Amino acid sequence: VQTAAPLIPESPTYDKLRKAASHCQACPLWKTGTQTVFGEPAGRPHRGPRVMLVGEQPGDQEDRAGKPFVGPSGRLLDEALEAAGIDRSQVYVTNTVKHFKWTGQGKRRIHAKPNTSEVRACLPWLEAEIRVFRPDVIVCLGATAAQALLGKDFRVTQSRGQPMSSDWARVVVATVHPSSILRAPDPEAREAQLDAFIDDLRTVARLIH
Ligand code: URA
Ligand code: SF4
Repeated sequence: VQTAAPLIPESPTYDKLRKAASHCQACPLWKTGTQTVFGEPAGRPHRGPRVMLVGEQPGDQEDRAGKPFVGPSGRLLDEALEAAGIDRSQVYVTNTVKHFKWTGQGKRRIHAKPNTSEVRACLPWLEAEIRVFRPDVIVCLGATAAQALLGKDFRVTQSRGQPMSSDWARVVVATVHPSSILRAPDPEAREAQLDAFIDDLRTVARLIH
């Protein structure tokens, strides 16, 4: 089976992990993605509880920039974090899968969902990030992250916004992926979905403030 496990350095640090991940070819996605998009930031510029946000996989802009959540989803995430009173510079942001998976449609690269074997292959990187960063709170953004960490039966629609204890961190909270809000059918639906997302992030804010 394909897995990044053999590539994980023996006593990992953030820098060692990031460097090793940059050469990962454990699943076929290294061919479609431009580069490995690893979690950021490395340092912890603040004291206090450590929060890790886990998305699905880099998008088109993240793939080009080599940084997580810098495109449209990232801007929405920043807006929601600010509304919830969480400083993005306080949190470590990463993805379940580190390469961009897409299908071509003319010149546009359309996001394609990673499959279970790609998620399984890439998971050792996330596990190692968790071991190195030791988050107090992990926020799963969407079903891919939530199911990777909480099991395939986890349903975001049923359990979103609920703090759960877990082996991964003192508390895990799952919510929707910001891209689902960008796909809302009309402005009212979008507003309602954004409010619900901010509510979930306020729950996170209460856990850390
Ligand atoms: N969506 C994600 O899940 N992660 C990113 O980094 C960007 C978009
Ligand atoms: Fe490695 Fe993950 Fe990229 Fe697959 S998606 S090649 S497992 S870093």
